[in-house]
Amino acid sequence: MEFQAKTSSALTLRTHSLVLPVYENSKSSGATISSAAISGTTAELDDACDGLIAKLIKQGDIKGSLGATRVLHDVAGCKADRVILLGLGKQGEALSAEKFDKAIKKAAAAVKATPAKDAVLCLDDVTVTDRDEAWKASQSAKYFTDAVYQFTQLKSKKAPVINLKKVIYTVADKKQLKAVSSALTAGHSTAVGMALCKDLGNLPGNICTPSYLAQEAKKLARGNTKLTAKALNEKQMRELKMGSLLSVSAGSEQEARLIVLEYKGGKKSAKPVVLVGKGITFDTGGISLKPGVGMDEMKFDMCGAASVLGTMKAITEMNLPLNVVAIVAAAENMPGSRATKPGDIVTSMSGKTIEILNTDAEGRLVLCDALTYAERFKPKAVVDVATLTGACVVALGKHASGLYSNNDDLAEQLLEAGKRAGDKAWHMPLWDEYQQQLDSNFADIANIGGPGGGSITAACFLSRFAKAYDWAHLDIAGTAWDSGAAKGATGRPVSLLVEFLQQQAS
Ligand code: BES
Ligand code: MN
Ligand code: ZN
Repeated sequence: MEFQAKTSSALTLRTHSLVLPVYENSKSSGATISSAAISGTTAELDDACDGLIAKLIKQGDIKGSLGATRVLHDVAGCKADRVILLGLGKQGEALSAEKFDKAIKKAAAAVKATPAKDAVLCLDDVTVTDRDEAWKASQSAKYFTDAVYQFTQLKSKKAPVINLKKVIYTVADKKQLKAVSSALTAGHSTAVGMALCKDLGNLPGNICTPSYLAQEAKKLARGNTKLTAKALNEKQMRELKMGSLLSVSAGSEQEARLIVLEYKGGKKSAKPVVLVGKGITFDTGGISLKPGVGMDEMKFDMCGAASVLGTMKAITEMNLPLNVVAIVAAAENMPGSRATKPGDIVTSMSGKTIEILNTDAEGRLVLCDALTYAERFKPKAVVDVATLTGACVVALGKHASGLYSNNDDLAEQLLEAGKRAGDKAWHMPLWDEYQQQLDSNFADIANIGGPGGGSITAACFLSRFAKAYDWAHLDIAGTAWDSGAAKGATGRPVSLLVEFLQQQAS
């Protein structure tokens, strides 16, 4: 998809679809149907088409409620094949960033539902609380690109084509052109990263194996001088004494991989931000086998890894001026005669011994060795991303990722990035009181912390291996994919991570 910023009046642009805002009238009209309100370019168009829009509003056909869309054809006074009126809620009421996001997603869906090959977005009159024009442009480009994502590679029949290829974003003020243009590029790049994240997440476990993820990482680095990729095999991990990570892949025919991507966009001396992704390409639970119902969804247990790879793709496209390392701990968790058993004790790369009381708590076992490995990069900060616990889904549902950190400033930056990106996280406690739940009678630490606070004790486990640097952990078990009819990877939290890295780079 291509994006362009233009200063021309939206009404003069020849297009297949023109998106214009309408508002809900704040004054009650006295009638049973509430009327909508128009201003700016929408009002200009209304004048030019003999009050057609005002008439539809008066009749109650258009109400302007948030996210409601209405397609009009053959509207005089503009050069668009169709006009799509986008409801933005009550006029005069502050439009929050979240409401804007909601509306723009609906606009993208409405355009996508038409045969339009291009769209003009005329949103310059739309004021969003605490956000500028560049933010609106970036969100628009991100959501329009994301709207045309489809995962069809494993269907034998060709999917219906989506026509939309080009979006023009109009700006009222010439001075904003440059900022809006680069915001459009950034938003688009973010969605391209999300698409990679979704593709990898949606691929089944028989295709997306640890070695497949390693290949994909190498593919990303190909032809890009700032990005290098390597993947350690099990022999190399054994030499590094990654006994914890290797205990997870022990029951599988598929060899584990530790994938390392290095992006050098910053000064040579600048410490990198390290992203660590959980890449369990299928989680059966191992000997602590999961129940069968819904187990297919455990192909999404590599979504942390997928989001980290998607983020690397986005920032490479954006050419961000900073250094970032991505580490993906990839393994398949299977039962088998060589599989790790409950009660087994393994030694992690850090030297700490771990009593594995439940082989289904495997994410932390691969991550802890990756976190120790991260020390060699002398990181500015480490952020790990993992579909770590069902308990996090119980706590936060699908709307927010769980955020844990040993540094409040880092936590604040990630929370803020999540808010700006429309990809929210919620700060969870990492208090000392919880740590003792991980005590083991036989080893330094147990891999489960009992029934209470499962997402917290999982984070506590990771914190023991993240003492050498500022660290944060995102539990994305609830946010990484949707279940039910819309089953599929969401591309979260690529958007949060890209926003965070953009802030780090500026
Ligand atoms: N991958 C799962 C977590 C998960 C479960 C994510 C359901 C999304 C939906 C993880 O490896 C796991 O199995 N965790 C266990 C931990 C428990 C054994 C302490 C869990 O959450 O049940
Ligand atoms: Mn598990
Ligand atoms: Zn898992």
